[in-house]
Amino acid sequence: MLTLNEILPQARKEKRAVGAFNVANLETLLSVFRAAEREDSPVIIQVYQRLFNDERAELIAAMTSRLAEKSDIPVVLHLDHGTSIEQIKKAINIGYTSVMIDGSQLPFTENIALTSEAVKIAHQSGVSIEAEIGHVPFGGGEIQLSTAAEAVEFVKETGVDTLAISIGTAHGFYKKEPVLDIERASEIGENVAIPLVLHGGTGVPDEQLKKAIACGIAKINIATELQSMFLRGVAGELEKNGDKFKPLDIYFKPVEEKISEYVCSKIRVFKTKII
Ligand code: 13P
Repeated sequence: MLTLNEILPQARKEKRAVGAFNVANLETLLSVFRAAEREDSPVIIQVYQRLFNDERAELIAAMTSRLAEKSDIPVVLHLDHGTSIEQIKKAINIGYTSVMIDGSQLPFTENIALTSEAVKIAHQSGVSIEAEIGHVPFGGGEIQLSTAAEAVEFVKETGVDTLAISIGTAHGFYKKEPVLDIERASEIGENVAIPLVLHGGTGVPDEQLKKAIACGIAKINIATELQSMFLRGVAGELEKNGDKFKPLDIYFKPVEEKISEYVCSKIRVFKTKII
């Protein structure tokens, strides 16, 4: 498996992005992996920090590593929204090749201090690291937009590899279509050379994603749409089959295929070079 540093700088240079998809079980992992193979594309498998509270993150790491060994596509395994130095260390110990430390709700100087410490630890182990400035909220919280001045200072002070910026997205489904602040993204991209990250990719229209990619966004995170597709898919299969019992793997198959199709469609948008 690779780190973000082996795939994202080149992607940014070529004005394309790599999809980072949050998986939480075997079925979502397989669906994403098969889609990336079908598109012959690099892929970032990400895991929510919550799954590091028990064995799940470690088991997903084992499955991802086995899939990557048998495949020719570049694969990065990434801790999403790491909350503490302990969690960063745990992710590194169980085989994650990349981590995020999320100090975006701390005061700016504390975010710099926490991120700097996490960067040291990640780099000692040859692991790539992402951090966030401004704040991309969860569950209806308020968006705090990032500024170019902050981005410049943050990157210089921390030595972080990739930077998540807040340009109008939020995590989860949108009540109304989001409008990205492309001017802001462009100003940040002109002043910061490292690959930029867009969180809250669910529900952002493709045309807006392409504009963000042109500004330097090289990693796009998608979780809600994919995971909800899994749940809705299983519910749909249950309804279709009534009381008839079917083993789990047979139930999941058509659902996995739908998720793969969705992931393929996103990868095609992200990997189109913007000229
Ligand atoms: P969505 O859940 O809105 O797709 O956001 C994903 C994300 O940014 C994970 O960190």
